[in-house]
This record gives sequence, C-alpha cells and structure tokens, in this order.
Amino acid sequence: MPAVFEHLEEGGMSRAQLIEMARKDLEHGRNGTMDKVDEIFKVPVENYYEPGRFEREVRLIFRRIPLLLATTAELRNPGDYKAMEAAGVQVLITRDREGSVRAFVNMCSHRGARLVGEGCGSAHKFTCPYHAWTFSPGGDLVAVYSQDDFGALDKSEYGLISLPCLEKAGLIWVTLDPDSTLDINDFLSGYDSLLGEFGFDTWHHQHTQRVDGPNWKIAYDGYLDYYHLPILHRETFGTEIGNKANYYSWGPHTHLGRPDTSWEEYEGLPEAEWPTEKLVAGVWTIFPHISIASFAGGGRSVMISQLFPGDTPETSYTNQIFLMEKEPDTEALRKEADEQFAFLKYVVAEEDYATGIALQKNLDVGARSHVLFGQNEGGGQLFHKWVDTILETPDTDLPKLFQTG
Ligand code: FES
Ligand SMILES: [Fe+2]
Repeated sequence: MPAVFEHLEEGGMSRAQLIEMARKDLEHGRNGTMDKVDEIFKVPVENYYEPGRFEREVRLIFRRIPLLLATTAELRNPGDYKAMEAAGVQVLITRDREGSVRAFVNMCSHRGARLVGEGCGSAHKFTCPYHAWTFSPGGDLVAVYSQDDFGALDKSEYGLISLPCLEKAGLIWVTLDPDSTLDINDFLSGYDSLLGEFGFDTWHHQHTQRVDGPNWKIAYDGYLDYYHLPILHRETFGTEIGNKANYYSWGPHTHLGRPDTSWEEYEGLPEAEWPTEKLVAGVWTIFPHISIASFAGGGRSVMISQLFPGDTPETSYTNQIFLMEKEPDTEALRKEADEQFAFLKYVVAEEDYATGIALQKNLDVGARSHVLFGQNEGGGQLFHKWVDTILETPDTDLPKLFQTG
C-alpha cells in the first residue's frame, strides 16, 4: 500500500513558515486540539447546481483567475509545448527559444482552427492543420501558405493571442482572459515560495490520468477536508492520518497540516536539520482548482489534482498529474509507481467522487436549503467565501483583492 501524505527539501523565509506550522501542528498534537474557526458556516444548496451560478463561476472565476495549467516538468526545453482545454478555452503553452514560458489561445489567426492537438510535445514551429499557416513557439506568424494567392498581409498583426502566464516553483499559471490586469504574483500571495520548497523545477513528469466527478465545488470540498478521511477512506488509507486538519492560508490558498506529535523527534534538533520532505507533507490547495499531496510509491511523488468544471453544473473532471522527484529507473520502481497511480484513481473515483455524485443528486432535489461546514472545516469555509467574493467583484477591482500593503 502506498504511504499517503508521507514525507516530502530547502529556503529562508518560506522554510521559517514551514517550521512555524510544524510547531503549531506539534502543539495541537500534544494538547489534543486542532485549529477551529468561530462558527459553523452554511452554503446554499443551489450554489452547487443553479445554471446561472455555474455560468458565472466559469466566467468570473475560471476565465478571470490565474489557473495552474501546467508544470515545468511537462515542458522543460525550448520548443516543448502543452496543448489543453481549460474551462472551455483551448490553450497552447510553449517554451520559446529564449526559454521563457508563453501561453496563447490555441487558435489560428486565419480562420480560427485549433492549431495544436491536445497533449505535450516538442516543435520548432506550429503548422495549422487547416491551411498550413505557420507560427513560432513565441506566437509569431512566420509563414502564410501560398501567400501570393492569399494576398498581402502584415504578419506582425496576426500572431497568436497571448495570455498572461507565470512560471514559479516549477509550476505554470495562465490567466484565460487576454486583457487581464491581475498580477499573477499578487494572486499567489507569497504561497509560491512555500511551494518552491518542493523543488518541482527539477522533478520529472511521470503520468497524467483523468477522473470524472460531480460539480467542481463538491469535488473540491473533499480536498479541503480531513474530517472524512477515517470514515469514507477507512478501507484504503484514511486511518493513517486522523480526522483533524489545521488550516494555514495565504490569500485564497490553503495548506492543510494536522495535529502531529511525530515532530517531537526533531524538537531538540537545530531547525536546519528538520527534514524538508516532512515539512512539506500535508495537502496544498491552490485556489480555485488545485490540490497537491505527497506520496511515496515508486519513489517520492506528488499528485497534482487539477479540477475543471464540466459542461454542466453537475459535472467536473480532474487531471491527476503525477510528478516524481526522480524518474523511476527500474522496472520494480515503475511498477510501484503505476500501482500508486491506479490506487489514487480508485480512491478518488470510487470513494470521493462516487460519494459526491450521489450527494449531488440529493442537493438537486431541494429538500434542504443548505449544507454545513463545521468549525473543524475552516478550509472549506474560506474557499466558499472566496468564491462568493470573486463572483461579486467587478473586473476593475479584481487586482485589488490580492494586493497587500
Ligand atoms: S485556419 Fe489555420 S491556416 Fe486556415
Ligand atoms: Fe477524500
């Protein structure tokens, strides 16, 4: 069986914050306490199914807020690319000749064909499958097929539509609104430096698999909740961790620790010797749609769960992106890693999302007006409050939400 949330390496300020959280987790472990918020919080059931609400969430959250769409490991070298769909937008992420990550709408400027089919690859140029217009990894239109026939055209006006993007901590964020003025660094609220402690920029992309699920918020709620672990996951891994989470937040992004006496072993040691792999254990959620958790099968790994709303309010899908600290280099390690991935697909599909799909049907009936998030579920409370806040914020005020000082 894979060890779950186990140990996960190095820095300054962010490391100090990790140590501080570990000390708090230790204190809670010793005292038999946990982090609690002041009140039980109610979420109206229609927030999970009402079509108008769903349309606003896609348009005002997924199309306006930076999304973690890719990892450095997926496009490490100049010319590497990743093409994918995110919240209905076809996106092409490239690494240009200078080594910078670029993001574009995956749409030819001639008549709008999708330029590159979904997946990762490497290309020195992108030739449109419709009439063979050709673009560089930097998004420039470099050649028009049969240009004498087509007519005179200023190619510099017909490059790909560029999207704001940022590569940090071995992770790549893209904003789907080409006109966004929201600074992705502001949005990250310093959280990226903690994520940087993993050292993902040198990790290996081993595998990606997809799981279909219920409404994206029902699915996401489960990633912010340890309360259910020993119950819903009792047959798989849930008894290893306990049902209590401590929530630590940076802007809308939340790290889940837990009351944990196992830190006593390190208490007498200089902080520099506290193992980084253990300091970054737990769950790291990145608003609005990412969860990162650590595993050990086949070698140290993380599963990056990347959620997207489906075509209807009742559906979502999740890309489980597996990064490994080192590429498994023996058959035995590869097999162990594959078993880990299959196990996690099983847990999420058959336990979490199966529960969420049945739960969704109950909400849709309208027999109850709301669902509850307890004082022990502060992460979920914060998530829903941020969702509401962003829905209420006009475009012009959006950058201010994340600016500090
Ligand atoms: S649509 Fe791309 S070349 Fe015509
Ligand atoms: Fe779960």
